[in-house]
Amino acid sequence: MKHMLIKAASEALILTAVMAADGPMVPDYEVHLLMNPSAVLGSDFKLTPTVLSTFAMPTTVTKINVQYLDTITEDFHVNGWSCRIRNVENKSGFDLTYKWRLPVNNGDINGALNTAFSDGWNSGQGNYDAQIDWLYSSQTLSIQRDYSASSQGYSGTDNPSEKDSRNMLEDNAPGMFDDWVSGGWGTDLLRSAVIYGPILTKRSTGTWNGLELDIEVWPIENSSGTGIEYLVEASFKTDDFDTASTLRDQLITLLQNNGWFLAESVSKEDLVMENYHPTS
Ligand SMILES: *[C@@H]1O[C@H](CO)[C@@H](O)[C@H](O)[C@H]1NC(C)=O
Ligand SMILES: *[C@@H]1O[C@H](CO)[C@@H](O)[C@H](O)[C@H]1NC(C)=O
Repeated sequence: MKHMLIKAASEALILTAVMAADGPMVPDYEVHLLMNPSAVLGSDFKLTPTVLSTFAMPTTVTKINVQYLDTITEDFHVNGWSCRIRNVENKSGFDLTYKWRLPVNNGDINGALNTAFSDGWNSGQGNYDAQIDWLYSSQTLSIQRDYSASSQGYSGTDNPSEKDSRNMLEDNAPGMFDDWVSGGWGTDLLRSAVIYGPILTKRSTGTWNGLELDIEVWPIENSSGTGIEYLVEASFKTDDFDTASTLRDQLITLLQNNGWFLAESVSKEDLVMENYHPTS
């Protein structure tokens, strides 16, 4: 009897230790595939009726105004971080996202999760979400934390001014971001951060193979800043690697068969950071 009690107590101790133990984060998966703008957009730069009906999408879109804050020399971007502010049509407040990214080498997702773990990212950090962003020929581990900030004084899909953007990002800055390079690194740099964007994007939401599928249209300034290039991206999310992999193959085939596929791996955020050159 005494022996059994001791055994039960030690098992409970072991269980507690396992639950509290740090381990690498567990990601979900988001597949991102680019569509050829000249094949899927009409002359009004909206998705064609055939694209909409293929993915059971209504003609109504959700407007999302997106901007990133970074220094003129892109210190956050260079260190794997981004600070994003979004105004989603008809949703109260601004969405703030602090995101850290690490490229996945040759499909070695566990390797990336282990590297992140050694950089301080662990499964005990319940306020952060880990995701594998799976593009056509690359994968990235993204770890993000979201907040909401008041949009009082702003209307429609307007985004906050540079000063208000800096302030709301400073006020909410989580420790992992703020102390990434050294104590207070993030908030120090936010004081001189500038706006990359804004980009007024449009999201169509439909269903495909029982999953929600989104198509976003991003009008992004081209590299000379004298015109707009349209980036059109289809995406879906799932918790499971095998589902992501199988449906990704099927979606590529569907897009190819319709002549809609663009076999490139450009991330929306990277293109914005590359093409916008704010000076103040
Ligand atoms: C947002 O609200 C306006 C006005 O009520 C409406 O016309 C529009 O369709 C709404 N947009 C979305 C995406 O729900
Ligand atoms: C940007 O767009 C303008 C207008 O379409 C065009 O004249 C210019 O060549 C483009 N620049 C680049 C680098 O694509």
